[in-house]
Amino acid sequence: MRQHRAVLAIAGLLLLGLQPQSGHAQGRFPDRPITIIVPFAAGGPTDVVARQLGEAMTRDLGVSVVSENVTGAGGTLGAQRVAASRPDGSNLLLGNIGVATAPSLFRRPPYDPLTQLDTVGLITPVPMILVGRSDLPANTLPELLAWLRRPNAEVNIAHAGLGSASHLCATLLRSILQTPMTAVAFRGTAPVMTEMMAGRIDITCDQTTNALPYVQDGRIKAFAATTAERLAALPNVSTTAEGGLPQLQVTIWHGFYVAHGTPRPIIDRLSQSLRAALADPAVVNRFRELATAPEPPERATPEAHRALLESEITRWKPILTAAGEYAD
Ligand code: MLT
Repeated sequence: MRQHRAVLAIAGLLLLGLQPQSGHAQGRFPDRPITIIVPFAAGGPTDVVARQLGEAMTRDLGVSVVSENVTGAGGTLGAQRVAASRPDGSNLLLGNIGVATAPSLFRRPPYDPLTQLDTVGLITPVPMILVGRSDLPANTLPELLAWLRRPNAEVNIAHAGLGSASHLCATLLRSILQTPMTAVAFRGTAPVMTEMMAGRIDITCDQTTNALPYVQDGRIKAFAATTAERLAALPNVSTTAEGGLPQLQVTIWHGFYVAHGTPRPIIDRLSQSLRAALADPAVVNRFRELATAPEPPERATPEAHRALLESEITRWKPILTAAGEYAD
């Protein structure tokens, strides 16, 4: 094991253009474009974050950092693509909390985040809002709960596939309320908004990075923020606790991953670039407009990210097992 680590470290130094003995940087990493794999649909919350970071990291790294949407299976297809990629730092997964919940949702998990991916750093914690179509006959969370609990109610709830953030929130909501709802899966929450505006989807839980602009201009309704405090961007929208649903609290964290075995100096350079991007005024301002904020530098590190990933896998397993949601 020690020998394996030493080989990886030397390979990393060489890839970075460093001589193992001399320590002189010649800047050979990155020497080609970097792809951010977004495991959900274009235009949605993950995509919005990726594009902001891509522009800032392009400025920092001096090579183009572009997004590619690899969608399907609740984000697990994109994650598998990165897990199977060459461990050379040229493919980054932008994964949300779903990376930690997927292992508990599949009888045969399609990949293992702890052994097939390496963490680079945390990016941003994004609030969720419970939203619905604009002509829904409820305006507040208590009114929505009464509407959902009507006898013989036929209600659909959309999410972005088993293992996505919106699926996690929908699963919690359904298990708290114990009322029947038809779950409808999409490849991301961008298409959910399109269907909701057309009146074909009743409710969903989505991240502010996607849903907020639609709420602000009245194309959909917000019933509650799933956060401890009200959102400054939606001061008239109650929290779930204020509206009678204290059990529904969830914030969606995001992180960058590379294929397991990527040399540490490359991970460190990517992590440094992530921290530079998170301090970039363009990123900070856009995040603020979307009711979120960059993670502080001490959390945008491989170690802080790995610690959160491990604790979140442990935290969600019993909750999801009790909710009884599984896929083969
Ligand atoms: C997306 O980008 O569409 C979302 O992050 C999906 C989700 O996890 O709910």
